[in-house]
Formats: sequence, structure tokens, C-alpha cells
Amino acid sequence: MRQLLDSHSSGAEWPLPDADLANLDLFTSGFPHALFTTLRGHEGPHFHPATALTPGQEGFWVFSRYRDIVPVARDNVVFSSESGGDREGGGTMIEDLPRSVGVGSVINMMNDPRHRALRRLVAPGITHAKIAALEAVLANAAQAAVDEALRRGHGDLVSDIAAELPLLAIASLLGIPPQDRHQIFAWINAVLDYADRQLGETSQSSAQAMQQFMAYGQRFVEGRRQAPGEDVVSLAVTGELGDGLGRLSSVEQLMVFNVVMVAGLETTRNAIAGGVLAFIEHPGQWTRLQKQRALINPALEEILRWTSPTPYNRRTATCDVEIGDCLIRRGEKVTLWWASANRDDAIFERASEFDVSRATNPHLAFGFGGHGCLGAQLARLEMRVVLNALLDRVDGFDLAGDVEWVRSNKHTGIRRMPIRYSAASPPSARCDDAAGAAGNRF
Ligand code: HEM
Repeated sequence: MRQLLDSHSSGAEWPLPDADLANLDLFTSGFPHALFTTLRGHEGPHFHPATALTPGQEGFWVFSRYRDIVPVARDNVVFSSESGGDREGGGTMIEDLPRSVGVGSVINMMNDPRHRALRRLVAPGITHAKIAALEAVLANAAQAAVDEALRRGHGDLVSDIAAELPLLAIASLLGIPPQDRHQIFAWINAVLDYADRQLGETSQSSAQAMQQFMAYGQRFVEGRRQAPGEDVVSLAVTGELGDGLGRLSSVEQLMVFNVVMVAGLETTRNAIAGGVLAFIEHPGQWTRLQKQRALINPALEEILRWTSPTPYNRRTATCDVEIGDCLIRRGEKVTLWWASANRDDAIFERASEFDVSRATNPHLAFGFGGHGCLGAQLARLEMRVVLNALLDRVDGFDLAGDVEWVRSNKHTGIRRMPIRYSAASPPSARCDDAAGAAGNRF
């Protein structure tokens, strides 16, 4: 373990001297829950000291308890998603992104009032009705993917099932031609996976993939300028922000395309793959859901709580602020660990149990406050159609090899998960309340 280089005088000491959250090797077997359970046992927040691996050799605040995170996420004036203090860059990752990579121009790294106006502008592109209209096509695709996986009897769940649905969903939402989808997906994977680099670094493959993805986005946005439709990108290129804020700049328009692609693909894929892994590790919960299909909606929320595909987001303090005994100074980085809050036993009964019938589940997997996830309902629909297709056809799963995790502290993701399936018995022999579940809609 690397040595911590400095400490912070104005806040709680970092209680885990051997744990460096900038060391991505800590995240190569999934999210380090045991470490965060220990952290939550210490009154926080805590200042994570600079280490050889922290970008810019700069420390950052760590919020791990649910009740500490919520007020910070709610206050997007003191805690900025854009930047703060004298720093040039900013954004929602531990490493500062430069302004040229979206800080101040992409919705999740913008502050109000422009952020709120942009949300209002694009919201009609992702309404309940628009999402519901995708259900049949997504359900058919999920069923076909599961049938094919079952025909083979085994395979990689990520590439066979979990990756396909989000790709189809986002591509259908935006109107991306089918022949382009897998290439876009490969670029995004290369940008988000830190297999060959450290935080704050680019590698040749990530830089090249980013460049190609941006060039594709530019062509796509230009196409929407020429012939707008009713999708999110068309709304961004044709609409007014209102309140005297004018229109989006061409960079902001491009960033709408980028964020929907990047935010919508990996996260949902990881929720689906992580959800199946949770059922493999808790087979009794699978049997229970098969018998009580009416539990599908609480099961989805439990998968989200359990997998927390976006483990943290960062803010930057815009002024000095005291929290408990800690002084957070203007310009300091503040990280909010949703994945930790989601296992906080001050909020969740039996927080470390995976329970598809959990009745109260105010998880923070989609964040909290003004920047809460815009795609939450779409993600839930994708997860539900996959789960239904699996429940209809699969009695159980086994791991047929090692689970390969993505090397990242920003996405809790599974790169590869070899699975062996056992097919379910015919429909008449199972599901005592499938009819009750037929009316389950988000
Ligand atoms: C299970 C799947 C998903 C998870 C776990 C997830 C998680 C999150 C989280 C934690 C945030 C808050 C970021 C912050 O506070 O800084 C967020 C924001 C966002 N998400 Fe998602 N997301 C998911 C799916 C999607 C999908 C499918 C889309 C697109 C259709 C999407 C689009 C967005 C956008 C645009 C924002 C920024 C909202 C804003 O800043 O106002 N997400 N998401």
C-alpha cells in the first residue's frame, strides 16, 4: 500500500491509513464494501490525504454516511458540480477535468441556473410516454438475447445480454443507426476503463477512442441540426433555454449527445450484470422472485441499491463551510459515496443483506438532489425487461469462470462474467402470481 503524503489540519483524520481510494487496484474485485463499512464507523466526513496516486497530489473529502451525503447533494450552490475556488477545471470525478472536456458545458458538470434550464429543455425527449413506447422493442430484444444464451447453455452474460439492452435503448431513444451502435459502445468502454492507466491519465487507446467518439458525436449533432426530430439531441440543437439564457452553444449541444451515451450505457449494463451476480450469490432470492413475480419492482430497487453502478460523484466547495467539526475550504474537492450510503445500516435494515422484498428502499444509486439521474426510468425499464425475460426462462445460473471487474472507482462494472444457465420448466408449472406482475409498470 502506498504511503499517504500529507494530512489535513482542519478536518477529521483519515482513519484508514492503508486504504488509498485513488488506488484503482482496490476496486478490481468490485466495490470495497468492507473498507467503507469501517469508514462509516468513524464520525465523518474525512479528509483523504494526498498520495502518490491522487490526481495533482491533492487530497479530497470523503462522505460515506447517508445522512451526511444527502445535505451536501441537496446544496448545489455551496457544493458545485462545475468548479470552485481558484481551480481551472473541475467536474464530478476525483480528477479535475479541463473546461475543454465538458466542465461547465455538460449537464452533470454545470451549475444552475443554466443546468436547470438545460434539464427543462431536454426533459421532453425522455418522458414516461417516450420511454414506455420503447418497452415492446426492448422486451422482444431481451427475450431474443436470453433465448439465444439458453440455446447455447453458457456464455458471457455481459456481452450476450447486459450490454445489448442499454445499447438498443439509448440508440432507439436518440435514433442512432443500428450499424453504428457497437462501435460507439467500444469507444465508450475504452474511455471509461482504467485497465491501462491511473486516475487523471489518458492512454493511447482511451485518447484515440475519445477523439473518435467526439467526431462521431459532432457528425450526429450536425445531422440533427439539418433534420431535427423529437429526440433529446434535436431538442438541444433547436430549443431555447428560456429565462434570457439564450440557446446552447455548439459545444453544449455536442455534450448532450455525449452525456446521454456515456451516462446511459455503462451504468445500466453494470446494474444488469451486477444484479445477475447478486442472484447467483443469493439463489434463494431468485427462487423467491420466480414464485412471487409481483416483487419485481422492489427487486429492481434492491438491485440498484446493491450494485450502485455509480459509486461516487464529486463536488467542489465554492466557499469555506463547516460541517460538524470539519472545515471544508473553498475550492476543495468533496466526494459523495452513494455506494457506501446504500449499505448504511443507520438507514437500511439489514443493510448487508440482498432482499428482493425490501419494503423501504430510499437508495441513492441515482444520486440525490438537482443533479439526480435523468435516465432513471429508462434504466428501470431496461432492467425490468431483462429480469422478466430471465425469470420466464431461467431456473438458475452458475458462474462458469471468474468474474472480471472493470478497474475503476467511478464505475462499479463487470467486464466479463461467464455463466451457465439452467432452463426453466414450462410456464404452467411455475409462477404463482405472474398475472399480478403483468400490470407492473414503472
Ligand atoms: C442504472 C443505471 C444508472 C445509474 C446507476 C445512474 C446514476 C446516476 C447518478 C448517480 C447521477 C447523479 C450524478 C451527480 O450527482 O453528479 C446520474 C445523473 C445523470 N444520469 Fe444517470 N444513471 C443511470 C442511467 C442513466 C441513463 C439510462 C441515462 C440516459 C438516458 C442517464 C443520464 C443521466 C444524466 C443526463 C445525468 C445528469 C443529470 C444532471 O446533472 O442534472 N443515466 N445518474
